[in-house]
Amino acid sequence: MSIVYLNGEFVPDHAACVSVMDRGFIFGDGVYEVIPAYHGNLFRLSEHLQRLQNSLDAIRITNPHSPQQWESILNELIDKNNVNKDNGGDLSIYLQVTRGVAKRDHALPKDIQPTVFAMANPLQAPSKEELQDGVSAITGNDYRWLNCHIKAISLLPNVLLRQQAIDSDATETILLRDGEATEGAASNLFIVDNGLIATPPKGPFLLPGITRDLVLEIAQQNHISWEESVISESRLRDADEIWITSSTKEILPVTQLDGKPVGNGRPGPLWDKMVDLFQAFKQSLRQ
Ligand code: PDD
Repeated sequence: MSIVYLNGEFVPDHAACVSVMDRGFIFGDGVYEVIPAYHGNLFRLSEHLQRLQNSLDAIRITNPHSPQQWESILNELIDKNNVNKDNGGDLSIYLQVTRGVAKRDHALPKDIQPTVFAMANPLQAPSKEELQDGVSAITGNDYRWLNCHIKAISLLPNVLLRQQAIDSDATETILLRDGEATEGAASNLFIVDNGLIATPPKGPFLLPGITRDLVLEIAQQNHISWEESVISESRLRDADEIWITSSTKEILPVTQLDGKPVGNGRPGPLWDKMVDLFQAFKQSLRQ
């Protein structure tokens, strides 16, 4: 049993109830965040809360909490769930804000309270095999909407696109829109091209990932060349290395794309370097 947060209260997950009239349930009208907590420490909290604010602004929901209030809610949630803190138990904090409960009508209702929900789940680090051998990905048609920068809970296209990967025994679907790779169904995309790390520029076609930004920050600090640039389908297929990043996957090397080896089919040297730097950064927060 875990303890979840719902509208001001901490309750056992099985006792948390939301109205069937909630616009999150009826319309998928809400936004969310996934924040890692390493050894009880929320990772890049202010960046996640800023992205939450941007998502809320974009869909016209007033943020129900200040950053300080969010911090105290999420820390209390961690305290109530972090039973394995002493053996390093890491958590993935999921929070979502929906527009709230109202009679079904597409138009935005006035004067309703947003529904605020948060839960903590064990965070599984990538497995030894995934890190040693890399993972497989397939490509798929990016048929999502034109506001992919909003972290919306309405994820049906992402769900179906990710399932395409699972159905092909792969880990992720890398999305192509008009001949250009945007991101994964639930991750951001990097390639290595002649020693240069490249990732698509931010915009409406991809989620501005917190892990993505951290990878670029680490690259910058360690004098590793990087650029934000368009990744055409041919550039993707010819890349020496492909990585996918997210708060739950960290930085995973993709060693097979559509059944063909990426580079020499093994995790590449720049991934090796970046993942060490990333782990060192994470470790510094544990202490
Ligand atoms: N998803 N792009 C998409 C479409 C995503 O869903 C995610 C993460 C990312 C990576 O963002 P970040 O580095 O901030 O986690 C990029 C989360 C983990 C999820 O939906 O579970």
